Amino acid sequence: MGQEPRGVWKSKLGFILAASGSAIGLGNIVFFSANAYRFGAGAFYIPYLIALFVLGIPVMMLELGVGHHYRRAFPEAMYMAAGVKGEWVGWFGLLNAAVITMYYITILAWVLGTLIGAFGSLWQASAVPAFGLEAGTLSNSMSYFFNMISRYDTVFYVLIVWLLNGIVVWWGTKSIERVVKVFVPLMWLFMIVLIVRGLTLENGSNGLYLLFTPDFEVMKNPQVWQGAFSQIFFTLSLGFGIMATYASYLPKDSDQTSNAFTISFLNCSFEFIAGIAIFALLFCFAIVPNASTLSMTFFVIPEGLGAFPVGVKLFGILFYTLLLTAGLTSSVSLVEALGSGVIDRFGLRRRPVVIIVCILGAIGSVIFALPKVIDPTLANDGTLGLTLLDLFDHWAFSYGLLICGFLECVFVGWVLGADKLRKSINKTSRYQLNISFDIMIKYVIPIVILVILGYAINTEASDGGVYGHDFVMGEQSNMHILVLVSWIIFTVGGALILTGIAAQKRKKKASALVDGGAGN
Ligand code: PHE
Repeated sequence: MGQEPRGVWKSKLGFILAASGSAIGLGNIVFFSANAYRFGAGAFYIPYLIALFVLGIPVMMLELGVGHHYRRAFPEAMYMAAGVKGEWVGWFGLLNAAVITMYYITILAWVLGTLIGAFGSLWQASAVPAFGLEAGTLSNSMSYFFNMISRYDTVFYVLIVWLLNGIVVWWGTKSIERVVKVFVPLMWLFMIVLIVRGLTLENGSNGLYLLFTPDFEVMKNPQVWQGAFSQIFFTLSLGFGIMATYASYLPKDSDQTSNAFTISFLNCSFEFIAGIAIFALLFCFAIVPNASTLSMTFFVIPEGLGAFPVGVKLFGILFYTLLLTAGLTSSVSLVEALGSGVIDRFGLRRRPVVIIVCILGAIGSVIFALPKVIDPTLANDGTLGLTLLDLFDHWAFSYGLLICGFLECVFVGWVLGADKLRKSINKTSRYQLNISFDIMIKYVIPIVILVILGYAINTEASDGGVYGHDFVMGEQSNMHILVLVSWIIFTVGGALILTGIAAQKRKKKASALVDGGAGN
């Protein structure tokens, strides 16, 4: 069976739109505002910007550089860079990404459900029978959300979102490029409409003072730094192998330093204006976004939109369409990275791999959408699916990404040699990296990540988790332990198995070559 040719981006613009489309997602539109508020609003920008320059841009260059140099998806590129252990890191990153893909798509399914609600029922009071609540007990958006997640129709939405993802990656770069060319500019347009609306509301600028008044006291708190560092990884889609995969489809002579700057700049400016829009929107109605990322998405923002003097439905529809388009251009990059990791490593054909990835992924997403009510008092998460989602998010997001980032830097920095990567990047780049790049990759970033992780693990034991937001179950339950163990088995064990299978395959190929050679 001959190998299918690898994809290539038709144009540089196509690549930039796809990579920035991956970076710009739910993280920019809602998670940033929720985190910024939680970590001291104005105080958040400074650690955030430091995180961008210290961690974000160098790791972005590393991922783009590795993918571009070896022109293979993440696990194989890491194998070529740093041997079998490097390959394990590649699979670990992808499997952790798989967990995130599954629940990211469940959240997108809820976004789709809320978009449908925005045409009417989202704005009305309703009873929540699954929890025995009468109409008016909860806010309109909360009752809509809990009704949605306690019914089986969400499973249908999950399947629709997976189908959309499958269609977009079906033809690889070709179809991805087509979709991002429409969706990404549309996202910017929607965001601009929202920001104009937010700022023209009476008192719309109140939130801005809060967002931009630095508070140096808050910056003494290590949690703020931890929040900023995780946010940068997530928002730039780093620690997933996505940027490596996307860069592997670029022509040989493309400039990775300028790509890294462009993608980071587009992403962070989108996040910046989204922060302005959301803070303006909420503060003019005196709604305090003191909420976890999910409650921000599904409770707090609709409350703000519902308070609009005119055009509630219109802006609601606009907002959830924005979330859905931004989320889709992100989730397809996850699915593509997973699929092409397998395709490149095992020499398989694209179509069957896409089908299998979508089926397995959809099963995972359905689990996170399970409507079984396990906490009728709503003291915790309410349903089994949401509880699982929250617990998996805790490990995959707060730990998995940083661990993968740490390992990438260590293996590329020390085993391959940061200088080798730098020289490869410099060969085709206008802006030349100097030795400080090596120092960042080899020393600064690994040490910073280790300090953050050490701090996080330490706090984990004492107060139930630094990232414990208001959805997370209060006490350490068996489920908490079970989720941790499953996450470790899936990522660490799964990566071992895949690395083992790949090694077997290599051996077979080598011995077939030797046999073939002897026959000649
Ligand atoms: N960067 C995306 C966001 O900000 C999240 C994401 C991470 C998407 C990784 C894909 C891969 O929402």
